[in-house]
Amino acid sequence: MRAFHRSNTRGCAADLARTRLLIEIPVDIPGQPSSVLVARGALENLASILTMRAGTKLPRRALLCFDRNCTAHAQQAARVLRAAGVVVTEFGLHATEDAKSAAVVETIWDAALAARLDRGDCFIAIGGGIVGDLVGFAAATYLRGVRVVQIPTTLLSMVDAAIGGKTGINRTLPEGGLGKNLVGAFWQPSITIVDANTLRTLPKRELRSGLAECVKHGLIADATLFHDIARDANELVNNHEPSIDRLLPRAIVVKTAIVARDPLERGERAKLNLGHTFGHAIETIPTASGKLLHGEAVAIGLVSAAAAARAMQMLSAHEETNITNALTSCGLPRSFQGETSAAEVMRRMGFDKKAEGGSLKLILPKGIGACEIVENPPPEVVLEALRAIGIA
Ligand SMILES: NC(=O)c1ccc[n+]([C@@H]2O[C@H](COP(=O)([O-])OP(=O)(O)OC[C@H]3O[C@@H](n4cnc5c(N)ncnc54)[C@H](O)[C@@H]3O)[C@@H](O)[C@H]2O)c1
Repeated sequence: MRAFHRSNTRGCAADLARTRLLIEIPVDIPGQPSSVLVARGALENLASILTMRAGTKLPRRALLCFDRNCTAHAQQAARVLRAAGVVVTEFGLHATEDAKSAAVVETIWDAALAARLDRGDCFIAIGGGIVGDLVGFAAATYLRGVRVVQIPTTLLSMVDAAIGGKTGINRTLPEGGLGKNLVGAFWQPSITIVDANTLRTLPKRELRSGLAECVKHGLIADATLFHDIARDANELVNNHEPSIDRLLPRAIVVKTAIVARDPLERGERAKLNLGHTFGHAIETIPTASGKLLHGEAVAIGLVSAAAAARAMQMLSAHEETNITNALTSCGLPRSFQGETSAAEVMRRMGFDKKAEGGSLKLILPKGIGACEIVENPPPEVVLEALRAIGIA
């Protein structure tokens, strides 16, 4: 991490000095350097930030695509950019999984064409992971690729989805049902700007959902982060800003470090899917109380992964309990409350991207703060993992 220090324009530097918690985390991908800027109040200074970044510079035109639930944040960004002379076209989106579709990508391309965006211009995504994935994919493909600035507005997208350049849309599977993120591209944002003030409007349930990915990051690579989240859970679920400010850079750095080492997910990056093989399989099954949020499904997936790791003697009973308790303290579900069967979930797991060539890969915690990719775990381990979340 480094302090933000470029100061080629005095006015811009003064603007930036007014932002709180200014931390820049580089994403050192050879040939595609990017960074994550963590700064409360960044939206008020968006034009200065873009001007001062070598990788971004102020565009002439911008297509500002935003989640309609983030209209106030988007309008603030649009106002600041227009004041700096950028021609801004606003494009509101409804952030549902259904919107992560080819049809919506086409509407974004067409809006960019109508606004006459050329390759020197840029897309800006303001919203959670849905808008980020969708707009990132539209940017990756428009004119064979234009710059995209990611401005995540959910905790989940701040620490995960808006970093690392995975973009994409969903497709319907041949046998029916939603195939998540099956079409996409790796397209690094020129910068990801994290302004935690945007979390003030985020529903609490969504904030808790994001905490699941933070717990995941602690489990993968930072035991202290994991234990600190468990300790501060009460503050975090209530969006206590100093606690969130301490959490953000530490959770982000786990992702940026892994992405820099393995940008195209040829190996280590798969560890970020901890909890997701089980999580994706149950995410689209209706529950007793409706639908699970992505982070809630990941939380249940983490409980499953912990049970599988325990069955494979990679985790002690005490560590397994610590994981479950940390998730519970964050107000996250620890079991699946709905109608399904182990056979159904295992069938769905077979469609997960990690099932390559008929083999199943699980990412399992090895103690707290490390994890391993386990190929073809024994079926009884998978059954045990499902039993742990109430699926028999
Ligand atoms: N690309 C990646 O690496 C990656 C990683 C993890 C998840 N994802 C994807 O991210 C998506 C989930 O992202 P998410 O959890 O951020 O959800 P999301 O984008 O669905 O946003 C969650 C909800 O919060 C609302 N919202 C967002 N920000 C708000 C704010 N500041 N104030 C008020 N409301 C706000 C949205 O309208 C939506 O209703 C999934 O599609 C998942 O596949 C991608």
